[in-house]
Amino acid sequence: MKEQTESKKVFFVTLGCQMNVYDSEVLKGILTQKGYSATSKPEEASLIIVNTCSVREHAEVRAIGRLNELSRYKLENPEVKLAVIGCMAQRLGEKFLKEVPALDLILGTEELFKLPDYLEEKGEKPIVALSFSEPREIGSLPLRKNKFSSFVAISKGCENFCSYCIVPYVRGPEKNRKVSEIIREVQCLTESGCKEVSLIGQNVNSYKDDGNDFADLLKEVSRTDIQRIRFMTSHPKDLSPKLIDAMSDLDKICKHLHLPLQSGSDKVLERMNRKYNALDYLRLVESVKDKVESLSLTTDLIVGFPGETDEDFQKTLEMVQRIEFDSAFMFKYSPREGTQAFLLVDDVANEVKLERLQTLIELQKAISQKKNKGMIGRTEEVLIDGKSKRDKASWKGKGRSNKTVIISKGTDDRNLLGEIVKVKITDADSFTLFGEIEGSVGSPDPTER
Ligand code: 5AD
Ligand code: SF4
Repeated sequence: MKEQTESKKVFFVTLGCQMNVYDSEVLKGILTQKGYSATSKPEEASLIIVNTCSVREHAEVRAIGRLNELSRYKLENPEVKLAVIGCMAQRLGEKFLKEVPALDLILGTEELFKLPDYLEEKGEKPIVALSFSEPREIGSLPLRKNKFSSFVAISKGCENFCSYCIVPYVRGPEKNRKVSEIIREVQCLTESGCKEVSLIGQNVNSYKDDGNDFADLLKEVSRTDIQRIRFMTSHPKDLSPKLIDAMSDLDKICKHLHLPLQSGSDKVLERMNRKYNALDYLRLVESVKDKVESLSLTTDLIVGFPGETDEDFQKTLEMVQRIEFDSAFMFKYSPREGTQAFLLVDDVANEVKLERLQTLIELQKAISQKKNKGMIGRTEEVLIDGKSKRDKASWKGKGRSNKTVIISKGTDDRNLLGEIVKVKITDADSFTLFGEIEGSVGSPDPTER
């Protein structure tokens, strides 16, 4: 037994989005069943896996760098297997070998789950497997990094074909899991102590299974013993009144909506193939804010899309100013070969892209700070996920609004990991809330005795 665990260690690097984190967890679960254990030291691993992202060029450059760095363990010990999996493997296939010659396995976004089978294949040549298999259920339970808050994929793939985006090409069309399968996974999680699930998918609110839509799924998940439910990412075109009602009616749902706007200019939105205009988006946000109390709204924005003029960019700034997002992920447009936008001339100079990005970041930072300061005096229910990096003595976690809260006072020496506690917010900056502990959720209020 000892010999087996010693010889079968796997080192993982996971880059990119939450779906990649989830896929890596599923693969870790599968590999654990095959006798592998995870290690944080690449030098002791017999299997090295890098799960990759293709959304922007920068992510791909990083992945190649990391893989070439890790190649040395294989050169030192030819028994070591080096695998690249996920979106970039899907995109490049065999061409990956030109970038990283030491690779043994190149497995796409669906084939990656068959990695143990491919490992058993004997042969000199590297294995390249890229087919999109039939929708499959997860046989083994994902091996979660965080026991108390877990991702659960409800769908994979995307068929929206936003013109800048590589995802539909590398993850294929949308495939929805069955409601029953999702519920089973959530129940398993609660039984093992999980308190919060984040339902993830490239476009969660277009979910469909046998007459059930995403709002129906949320109702079903709410009936389980899980305490908190989050979801992302939502597309504005699929945000139905029924879903808004579900968000406002179901207590377990955190009142956080991640709703990518991408641009404030109608002309750019049209060229991006987003299927809504700025006014549609504004109306949508108003209706959600009307119905859902204390809504936290976050977004994704791209600057420098082909043909974006100063005027178009001003429209993005105006929308950001007007809507006041709680926070935003902001990106410089990155041309992706194979997408529709790749056929357009990437005519916004890099310096202009950078300048616009900086302007946007500054504006959003000020808005986030204002919104966060507005929470001072409120009480947040925080799920504690560890100690703060800034201040190692303080616990930290996420409130229902999805903001990080650092608890500077009132924790004594208690181990609060995995607890949901009430925290009075006493201070805030653009990224973080700070507070003092008031009590545990569910524990009786001492003042009422
Ligand atoms: N360039 C820049 N940003 C992109 N995104 C997707 N594709 C690109 C690209 N080619 C951003 C979008 C999306 C987020 C996940 O990444 O804002 O919502
Ligand atoms: Fe990409 Fe658009 Fe699909 Fe999101 S909705 S994954 S941006 S194609």
